[in-house]
Amino acid sequence: MSHSSIESVSREARVFAPQEEFARTARVPSRERYEEMYRRSLESPDEFWLEIAKDLHWFRAPTKGLDWSNAPHATWFADGTTNLAYNCLDRHLDGARRNKAAIIFEGEPGDQRTLTYQQLHREVCRFSNVLGKLGVTKGDRVAIYMGMVPEAAIAMLACARIGAVHTVIFGGFAAEAVRDRVNDAQAKVVITQDGAWRRGTVVPLKENVDRAIAETPTVKHTVVLKRTGNEVAMEAGRDHWWHDVLEAVPAKHEAPALDAEHPLFILYTSGTTGKPKGVLHTTGGYMVGAYATTQYVFDLKENDTYWCTADVGWVTGHSYIVYGPLANGATCLMYEGAPNHPDQDRVWSMIERYSVTIFYTAPTAIRAFVKWGDHHPMKHDLTSLRLLGTVGEPINPEAWMWYRKLIGGERCPIVDTWWQTETGAIMMSPLPGAIATKPGSCTLPFFGVAPKVLREDGTEAGPNEGGLLVIEKPWPSMMRTIWGDDARFAETYFSRFPGIYFTGDGARRDDDGFFWVMGRVDDVVNVSGHRLGTAEIESALVAHRSVAEAAVVGRPDAMKGQALVAFVTVKGGVQPTAELRAVLLDHVANEIGKFARPDDIRFTDMLPKTRSGKIMRRLLKELAGGGEVKGDMTTLEDLSVLAKLRADDE
Ligand code: WTA
Repeated sequence: MSHSSIESVSREARVFAPQEEFARTARVPSRERYEEMYRRSLESPDEFWLEIAKDLHWFRAPTKGLDWSNAPHATWFADGTTNLAYNCLDRHLDGARRNKAAIIFEGEPGDQRTLTYQQLHREVCRFSNVLGKLGVTKGDRVAIYMGMVPEAAIAMLACARIGAVHTVIFGGFAAEAVRDRVNDAQAKVVITQDGAWRRGTVVPLKENVDRAIAETPTVKHTVVLKRTGNEVAMEAGRDHWWHDVLEAVPAKHEAPALDAEHPLFILYTSGTTGKPKGVLHTTGGYMVGAYATTQYVFDLKENDTYWCTADVGWVTGHSYIVYGPLANGATCLMYEGAPNHPDQDRVWSMIERYSVTIFYTAPTAIRAFVKWGDHHPMKHDLTSLRLLGTVGEPINPEAWMWYRKLIGGERCPIVDTWWQTETGAIMMSPLPGAIATKPGSCTLPFFGVAPKVLREDGTEAGPNEGGLLVIEKPWPSMMRTIWGDDARFAETYFSRFPGIYFTGDGARRDDDGFFWVMGRVDDVVNVSGHRLGTAEIESALVAHRSVAEAAVVGRPDAMKGQALVAFVTVKGGVQPTAELRAVLLDHVANEIGKFARPDDIRFTDMLPKTRSGKIMRRLLKELAGGGEVKGDMTTLEDLSVLAKLRADDE
């Protein structure tokens, strides 16, 4: 495998040592301390994690850490019983955190609302009772298709509290994608809103749900939060207004003791086939992982105001808006809408107005901020910030430097956090008081994480040699299986190198042992921080009656990280016109969501294939990345010649 083109652009030599002033009060104040803790976490993982687990409430304290005897299925803390919602709420009610802000919410129109731990606890208890009344019991699945409002967190926490398994579906997904996920999870209840605010317009969530659940036999009820006030259809007996059902239940609810391995949530993520994978996380290990990483990576302090701009529909929203911060008793800012509404300084204005101290966002957002101009952040007082973070894709060093200078005032450490839906929690990141940072590197592994870069043959790659990123040992917050498809779980993650977790990412390690993740080596692309399987988009395209065959690849894009290019062959008698191109783009938006709409559709007579019939994606990637598109978008590209030329290479 060759990563030379990626490596050559990332020869980055700048190093920033942790600042003394920051290190002085940091939880891990030196590299030596990190090394010592890291070594202990690998040598005696059970002891290490059981000790951290003690910070949290267990109804029955665990005595065991990892059980790997049924590999690749791990259990952690298996003889313990706990409740994640109890740890996020009830645990904080006996002391000073009782009246501390848990969630500070700002809606896109500018409305504000604060929920203290006590208030959030009360809402979650009430919603737990609502779920019970609707017949949801332990182990049942509940789909949550909402925007960024506190009720999304309330719904998640209520599910966790009663032991129902939530599956949050990103509000940007279209009805068909909602239907497929609800059907795969066999959800009994869907929780949604009339609509969500996005750039001043209403995203019609309930309407999408109506279309989706016309074809989901398992759904018995929906609960609908009134947010935007748009007209929605309510079917008597099936659809209930959030405010009505909440009125009718008591505010008391006792959190039951759940097994550490009780399923917590399913989160669908893209893989290399057309069908998304339902990544399953369980209670105890996930809780300890999210708790510990939030505390150490963000160096969380009692009086921090922490803001993660992710959406609750993605794993970052699960672990670092809801569960990690709340398990730590943190104050979280939550924002509903677009970062450029009504103006491009919205984010900086919010940091100033709420005196945010920790800010965690995605490289794609940072690149947009760079593009919108320095005058936006410069208008605002950002001196409350003390720590910055990034997640979701490799960050280009220039964006990192801009972030450091313009937003962090050259004072704030940047934690570049590498992890995945599957890993549940941050796996690699600098610890801000202990580890030097390099622009574009996620630096070193978190406690208990044993990453390696391997060659195709399984031997370890040398310094600066690109290879495949694997994790050698199990960790508490690792996924347990793929919902309903355990064989695919073993096959996807543990077969490439038997018994070792394969991440799907390419990486290299530099001379200092720092890791540089270069992106996916499989057919998964990262568009504006959204993880998309090219196969999913291909199957959406092929489902259209005009399309014979389609291949979708990513090409580098200055703003989005990667952009999608679809090579499409049409059926006989169909004209590849500009109109058809527009129709197909809309079709993908309707099937999956607008964020999955290709940037470019290129019609071609045939797709280049190997003799065994495999589409030559490498060739298409090169072609797509070649910059210039010949002629107008709708001209037929003759790839047959190229295919013939290349067939000899294969
Ligand atoms: C990529 C998001 C480089 C990577 C938490 C991974 C990153 C995929 C980083 C997971 C980072 C995430 N540097 N690449 N700091 N963080 N990635 O499941 O390719 O949405 O495999 O989880 O995003 O995306 P997912």
